[in-house]
Parts: sequence; structure tokens; C-alpha cells
Amino acid sequence: MVFKVGLLGLGTVGTGTAKILLDPEGRHPLLQSIEICKVGVKSLSKSRQVSLPPDCLTTDLEAIVSDPAIDVVVELIGGLEPARSLILKAIKQGKHIVTANKAVISRYGDQIFTAANQAGVYVMLEAAVGGGIPVIQPLKQGLGVNRIQAVTGIVNGTTNYILTRMQNEGGDFEPILAEAQRLGYAEADPAADVDGFDAADKIAILASLAFGGRIKRDEVYCEGIRQVSAADISYADKLGFVIKLLAIAKRPYPNQPGLQVRVHPTLVPKAHPLASVNSVYNAILVEGEPIGQVMFFGPGAGAGPTASAVVSDIINIAATLTSAATQPVANPLLACSHQHYSPI
Ligand code: HSE
Repeated sequence: MVFKVGLLGLGTVGTGTAKILLDPEGRHPLLQSIEICKVGVKSLSKSRQVSLPPDCLTTDLEAIVSDPAIDVVVELIGGLEPARSLILKAIKQGKHIVTANKAVISRYGDQIFTAANQAGVYVMLEAAVGGGIPVIQPLKQGLGVNRIQAVTGIVNGTTNYILTRMQNEGGDFEPILAEAQRLGYAEADPAADVDGFDAADKIAILASLAFGGRIKRDEVYCEGIRQVSAADISYADKLGFVIKLLAIAKRPYPNQPGLQVRVHPTLVPKAHPLASVNSVYNAILVEGEPIGQVMFFGPGAGAGPTASAVVSDIINIAATLTSAATQPVANPLLACSHQHYSPI
């Protein structure tokens, strides 16, 4: 069985994804049966860092989502529109979806998952939170049996980079932001990162998964790091704390209804596991019963890490469809461990 992928977007993450799909040697065996069929781009004339057959590039994204040959649509264009509409059209056409789009999922997750359930297709979003860190699938599956008490994360690499440099150098926010922009760590328009909106999208998704139900993005309290000064960091340091932009979803009272979901600069004791997560790295600490504490740590952004999460989602879909189409093995533990996946 060959799984045909239509890629929407060939920017940083799209290019990273195409590179993995075109170089399957030594990776998961199912990659051999995944084929890039079409890639939707803004301009056909732009030079690319990945070599794709010329006839697979198109500027007609609508044609990709309605192409009967395509099994999985990978949405990597970001933003709300046309991403949301393209995802919904693809679902209506019976395509499975892989997306890195936290803005669309945090705002329109309900609409998208309802449509996907009706169409009987999968929507996968591992790359939407934590870049390359596998956290969505573990929250849904590996930790699913736990009563989650809190999810606390450093889920924005740009702000963590800025705060780490402020901490290390004693510098103020504005010049370090300017330097981060010059180095390409921060966007020309840094609002989504420094005002906490990106982290708020991500914690709305994590909270919805961890606690069940639907955490509305607009209900997340959100405060960024623009007001954090060198003096704040220095005083915090003297008192035994670092300042981190934390995204927090927690039950205020154990095992009682009610949930707080918020993003804001936070005093973190230096001995806390999140205090030593520095630079562009992300980490998500999950606390639950009976497991206690589990922390996920890794690269939260960038072409390679995010593409790793995107391709793992494609493989998960392919693995699930493959296992559904074949007889179950008598003892799955006899199968090679990296060929065995639980159902999505
Ligand atoms: N702008 C985001 C960050 C990229 O800085 O973490 C990954 O979502």
C-alpha cells in the first residue's frame, strides 16, 4: 500500500518534512511506502532547498485538498485562513490531516474534530506544541490513564531565549529582542511570541487533551514578557528564582471541578526542573495520579525537530491504516518494536 501525501506549504518546516520523506533510508520502514504527491507553494519560481519533481509543485492549494489520489494532507502554511478552510475541505474529501497549526487547532479544534469524526478521518497535531518533543500522543495515550493535576510548560522558544539571555547577561528586554531578531530567533513582528499568544494557543491545546473537553483559546489568561526588566531578573536571582514564561493548566483544588489556564512570566525556584530549561528549548511538566511527575524536554522549534513531529504523525496514520487492513498478529510483542503502534 502506498500513502500519498499532499503538502501545503514549503517553508522551513515544509522543506524539513520533504527532506525526511525523500530520504527514508535508516528511518521507520513505513517511510518507504509514503510518497509526496503534490506540494502547494506560493511561487513556482522560488529556488528550493529540497529537490522535488517539478510537476509536483503547484500554486493551486484547493486542487491538492480535492485530489482523489491524495490520502494525507499535511498543512504547514500556518495562520488562520486559508488554513482552516483548506483543512475542512480536505476532511470533507476524506483526507487524513497532519498539521503544525496551533492557532487553527486552538480556535477551531471543535469544528475540525467534529468534521473529522463525521468523515472518519484522523487529524494529527504533534508538531503544533513543543516542536520535535513528542507530547501530544503521550498525553493522549501513554498518560491517558492518569488523573492529570497540572500541565506546566515552557512552550515558546523565542521568549525562553530572550529571558535566558537577560538572565545570563543582565541585559534589558528591548536590545536582546533586537539581537534575537537579527539572529533569526525572533520574528520581525514578535508579538505572537513576546506577548504570549503562541504559548496561549499551545496551552489551550495541551489543557484540552490533558483534562478532556474543550478549553477555549479566548479564556486563557495571557501576559507576555515585554514588561520584564533586568532589575526584575536581578532581584529574582538574589531571592533564588529565575523568571520564565510559563504556560500553566491546573486544577486549583485536587480532584475538584474547575481549571486555571494561564500564560505569564513566573518566578520559578532555581531547584525546579523547569528553571534549567534554557535558550530555545521547550519543556512540559505533567503531574498526575498515579504517575507523579513526568517532564518532556527538547527542541521546541526549527525545521528538523518540527518536521520530525510532522512525519511521525504521517507514519502513525499509515501504521494505523496498515494494521487495520491486515490481520492482527498473534502476539504483537513479537513484532519489531518500532513497527508496532497503538491505534490513534
Ligand atoms: N515561535 C515559536 C517559538 C515557534 O518561538 O517557540 C514554534 O511554535
